[in-house]
Amino acid sequence: MATTSLDGASVLLLGATGGLGGALGMELAGRGATLTLVGRDRTRLEQLDIPGARVALDLRAPDACAAAVRAAVEHGGRLDVVINAVGVVAFGDIGSLSTDVMEELFMTNTFIPIMIAHEAMANLSSGGVMVNISGVIAEQNLPGMAAYGASKAAVRSFDEALAREARRQGVRVLDARPPHTETGLAGRAIAGTAPKMGVGLDPALVARIVCDAIESGATDLPSGAFSV
Ligand SMILES: NC(=O)c1ccc[n+]([C@@H]2O[C@H](COP(=O)([O-])OP(=O)(O)OC[C@H]3O[C@@H](n4cnc5c(N)ncnc54)[C@H](OP(=O)(O)O)[C@@H]3O)[C@@H](O)[C@H]2O)c1
Repeated sequence: MATTSLDGASVLLLGATGGLGGALGMELAGRGATLTLVGRDRTRLEQLDIPGARVALDLRAPDACAAAVRAAVEHGGRLDVVINAVGVVAFGDIGSLSTDVMEELFMTNTFIPIMIAHEAMANLSSGGVMVNISGVIAEQNLPGMAAYGASKAAVRSFDEALAREARRQGVRVLDARPPHTETGLAGRAIAGTAPKMGVGLDPALVARIVCDAIESGATDLPSGAFSV
């Protein structure tokens, strides 16, 4: 597989206001990428100490996903890399989750990546890369996180087939499955309370491994690749 330099690459970073997104933004900027940063919260987006165009969008609609891709093509003159670090989590036995919460999990964690891919594939340049961060839970689901895990396993499954479709246009798809990372995501759960978890990975380390994988031509990023 061809390698992809991030130096001068036009990168669309979704979820730039998040813990992983922020670390990815710093790492990408350090490697010379031209960034289009997308988050929901305009104020936090403006406050990011990362160079790049800023676009505030709630991506839970096809038009918003199209607008994000369009903004990156306009800002960077083309689109080389898309990194989707958008996500929400919920905890609790399945009986405790409302249908609204289940819908939110699948809309944000599954439909947004699919809608983004729908828009991005027509615009990604040959040699480009599409990254979705599904997570270790897509490899083995856990009690108390069944719906979240299922929404992530769906993305992993989607990525598997997308990778083969995208290969025809010279685009690589990377499904990144990092283990628990210290971003504060668990404390922002849309329902339930997180179980006790061990100390997670440093977001900066995860960002470095994802960027290395983009540049090295890797075609998968399983949880084991994040072992330190
Ligand atoms: N942290 C972990 O342990 C871990 C491990 C494996 C995989 N992951 C996955 O990695 C991704 C990033 O997680 P994180 O830990 O960085 O979480 P985070 O800090 O909570 O960041 C989540 C990001 O998603 C954005 N977002 C949520 N809903 C959105 C929407 N409807 N439209 C646009 N943006 C939206 C948030 O934007 P606003 O803040 O502006 O709302 C924020 O930028 C998630 O998919 C998560 O499941 C995380």
